[in-house]
Amino acid sequence: MNITIDGKPCVCEPGEYLLDVARRNRIVIPTLCHHDGLPGQGCCRVCIVEVEIRGRRNIVTSCVYPVERECAVFTDSDAVNQQRRVVLALLRSRAPEADRINRLCKLYKVPEYERFASKSGEKCILCGLCVKACQSLGTGAIAAMNRGVEKEVSTPYDKPSDDCVGCGSCAAVCPTGAIEVKEDAASRAIWNREFRLRICERCGQPAGTMEELELAARKSGAEPSALCGECRKKAVADAMAATYGV
Ligand code: SF4
Ligand code: FES
Repeated sequence: MNITIDGKPCVCEPGEYLLDVARRNRIVIPTLCHHDGLPGQGCCRVCIVEVEIRGRRNIVTSCVYPVERECAVFTDSDAVNQQRRVVLALLRSRAPEADRINRLCKLYKVPEYERFASKSGEKCILCGLCVKACQSLGTGAIAAMNRGVEKEVSTPYDKPSDDCVGCGSCAAVCPTGAIEVKEDAASRAIWNREFRLRICERCGQPAGTMEELELAARKSGAEPSALCGECRKKAVADAMAATYGV
């Protein structure tokens, strides 16, 4: 299927998400709540673009918009920029401490809107990526709690959770750096709980928390690994080389 994005001819499969087509063609659309490994959020609306089909233009959310017919896409039109500025201003008022949002506000020249009251000290935009990451591991230790302005992501009652394995996947996917992780050579603290780190037998770097390695071992039916991810990959490559003489 043929479409154009900002005048550039692009080929795509029917049903492909517009954001993916744009990225493949090196056209930049800003995103916050999109993560390649956890698609389908469609929450922040920073990635909006304008789509024209048979002369009719509509604003759509590119990360969850499947291309079903030939169209002309505009990522930088006046309508897009105007709406994106409002979206960013709202996100900034929700999470004024989030550096990535402040950088986007600067880039898109978002004015200060007096009617948007700021929630001081906040970085979370409630996109839900962290909850999804935790669920996808089968742990489900965090969830959205409370309602309205009190809504936040946390462990039940903000207490250390027995379900949390301290893997830090939630913090790794968070687009705004809202989840605090403190780590030294021997331990990692996250969600009000401290975890002991296992040190990789090969390189001496942290291989993960004991709980995280035990969970991975339970899932794979193997013993908990004594190696970090990188050294595990190297060990497999070494074993292949020894077997096949490459
Ligand atoms: S903590 Fe981060 S990933 Fe989780 S909901 Fe808030 S912004 Fe999204
Ligand atoms: S990146 Fe598309 S809605 Fe957030």
